[in-house]
Amino acid sequence: MPDTLTITDNRTGKQYEVPVQDGAIRAMDLRKIKVQEDDFGLVTYDPAYQNTAACKSAITYIDGDKGVLLYRGYPIEQLAEASNYLETAYLILFGELPTASQMEAWNKEITLHTMLHENVKQFMEGFQYNAHPMGVFLSTVGALSTFYPDAKQIFDAESRRHQTVRLIAKTPSIAAYAFRHLTGRFYVYPDNDLSFTGNFLNMLFKMTELKYKVNKVLERALDVLFILHADHEQNCSTSAMRAIGSSHADPYSALAGAAAALYGPLHGGANEAVLKMLKEIGSVANVPAFIKRVKGGDGRLMGFGHRVYKSYDPRAKIIKQTADMVFEVTGRNPLLDIALELERIALQDEYFIARKLYPNVDFYSGLIYQAMGFPVEMFPVLFAIPRTAGWIAQWDEMLNDPEQKIARPRQLYVGADTRDYVPADKRK
Ligand code: ACO
Repeated sequence: MPDTLTITDNRTGKQYEVPVQDGAIRAMDLRKIKVQEDDFGLVTYDPAYQNTAACKSAITYIDGDKGVLLYRGYPIEQLAEASNYLETAYLILFGELPTASQMEAWNKEITLHTMLHENVKQFMEGFQYNAHPMGVFLSTVGALSTFYPDAKQIFDAESRRHQTVRLIAKTPSIAAYAFRHLTGRFYVYPDNDLSFTGNFLNMLFKMTELKYKVNKVLERALDVLFILHADHEQNCSTSAMRAIGSSHADPYSALAGAAAALYGPLHGGANEAVLKMLKEIGSVANVPAFIKRVKGGDGRLMGFGHRVYKSYDPRAKIIKQTADMVFEVTGRNPLLDIALELERIALQDEYFIARKLYPNVDFYSGLIYQAMGFPVEMFPVLFAIPRTAGWIAQWDEMLNDPEQKIARPRQLYVGADTRDYVPADKRK
């Protein structure tokens, strides 16, 4: 017998059988529930989509209670241990881990597309000297749509693949140029001899030396951070990517919108907010007073809590280990002690326990980035580079899903009834 939900409408006494599939009912099935024949029918009210699945997806699985994160079925811990970012991006984008020859071709393809058009460089030079690099990043990604008008062919699989390669390859170059702009340094062209993250470090930090020498520990640490940030199912920025893409905008425009969503302090801007918070706290001795303030409703413990994870974020665990690796090279970040003390106290505190608030991916990532020499403004940009893989994969999946249409939620209107216009001199 198929699973159904029986709904009794007390307003009319009628009963309805609504099919249940994959643990969900279809909101559209509720439309038949009406009092009068000409009623619109029942809608669901779900601000911030807290209990609404807006798509079916085969990309990322999260069990928030158990702290499980899988990309295409592979546990994040195994990927962080054994894979690299480009391989993980391939997995997320195309559904399977590449064979050795596919990986070689993919590496080459990406390497050959890292250069930016010289006009893009000039465009970026036009920003104010202290422009926030995330503002520069998202504007420049959006501007790429004017360089690649072929990207409008969103139903041409070949074109989609072409834009995918461009975006994966060029986002680190844009990010690095934005960083060099902020720091008043000349822009560094990609070095095709280096790995994806090795080249990124080169574009960020090369000075007058002929060949940039990549630190292997930092290269690996950045790669691990990129793997951890590559996708996270239907979060705010991914939903923005899908919503914008659903109007059939080109992927550069959609990705600029997704990056804008990531910019906010409640999402990808959280690690920047964590660092600001740690600096504000200033010392381990001030931690209890800060926690007391948060519990009193004055501010939040940034880097804690998650809409989906109601246990320790599995990415935060891996990042904590990566931090140890990085600090061996860079020296210990003095803010680490404050972070550790915050975590220690919060994890024993009834307020945080009752609300299931644990460290999320952003709690420790900022400390690593800062130790590696990044200013806080770069943190969301460092998040956007790997998340590009997830955004494109989700966009592609949305376009190929016959059930999807232009995203257009309903509202419950609570404004004024119809009323007549009053001329300005007669208004009270
Ligand atoms: N510090 C203190 N209290 C918190 C925190 C926090 N970080 N997060 C949630 N709470 C409290 C809320 O005040 C609320 O308490 P109440 O029930 O007494 O009113 C309760 O926990 C539930 O919080 P919501 O805001 O309803 O949870 P929601 O799922 O909407 O928010 C979010 C999730 C935005 C991540 C939130 O936990 C938060 O603001 N955290 C800090 C910012 C942050 O670290 N964001 C990064 C998220 S990870 C990412 O985007 C990559």
